[in-house]
Amino acid sequence: MAHEENKAFLRRVPLFSGLTEPQLENLAGGSARRSYPKGRTIVAEGEPSQSMYILLAGRAKVQRSDSEGKEVILAVLSSGEFFGEMSLIDDAPRSASVITLEPCEFMAVSKEAFKAMLVQSPEVTMAVMRGLVRRLREADKKIETLALLDVYGRVARVLLDFSELVGSERIVKNKLPRQEIAKMIGASREMVSRVMKGLEIDGYIVPMPEGKLVLRERS
Ligand code: CMP
Repeated sequence: MAHEENKAFLRRVPLFSGLTEPQLENLAGGSARRSYPKGRTIVAEGEPSQSMYILLAGRAKVQRSDSEGKEVILAVLSSGEFFGEMSLIDDAPRSASVITLEPCEFMAVSKEAFKAMLVQSPEVTMAVMRGLVRRLREADKKIETLALLDVYGRVARVLLDFSELVGSERIVKNKLPRQEIAKMIGASREMVSRVMKGLEIDGYIVPMPEGKLVLRERS
């Protein structure tokens, strides 16, 4: 029963859309569904790896930290995205930690099943490569942001990146704590608070209930 359910879930994952029925069958045999509460570490930086994961619901952050515990957020993942594939591909330790930002559901795919999939299906290999390339593009953009923009510009870019168009308005729908923004751009929480206050006074951001923000052009 769990096997059939896993197969049904895997069939809906874009990464595996090119798989044949027997391939899907094999993959389901090496997969398990998992649910975790907010704040749970799913993979830990520096640890050896056994599985990769597909996020079925919820959001999770990818973060690294130094020996003093200072943290930088590399990305926020949402439903449909996958992670944990890097260390399966190069057999190195986990490159970062992935921590749930809200209750999440995952499909965990074993190392063996994932590697077998890469060999059997050029479509899955291409989809994984597209995912890696997208991440490299985002990392390039982040390097540019950190090297060339001041803190105002960095905060503005994070807000734009996390916003979506709703009708004619650009809205940040999910609450973005200042501490989390600070960890994305290498600034202090106090500095981010000052910048956000300035953007609000200048009319660039309008706070809404439940932590939502409306972004505005200069008025
Ligand atoms: P792995 O190294 O196995 O474990 C940590 C995972 O975090 C890694 O695989 C990737 O899936 C993911 N990851 C690492 N760096 C980034 C990044 N810059 N953007 C998004 N995801 C990342």
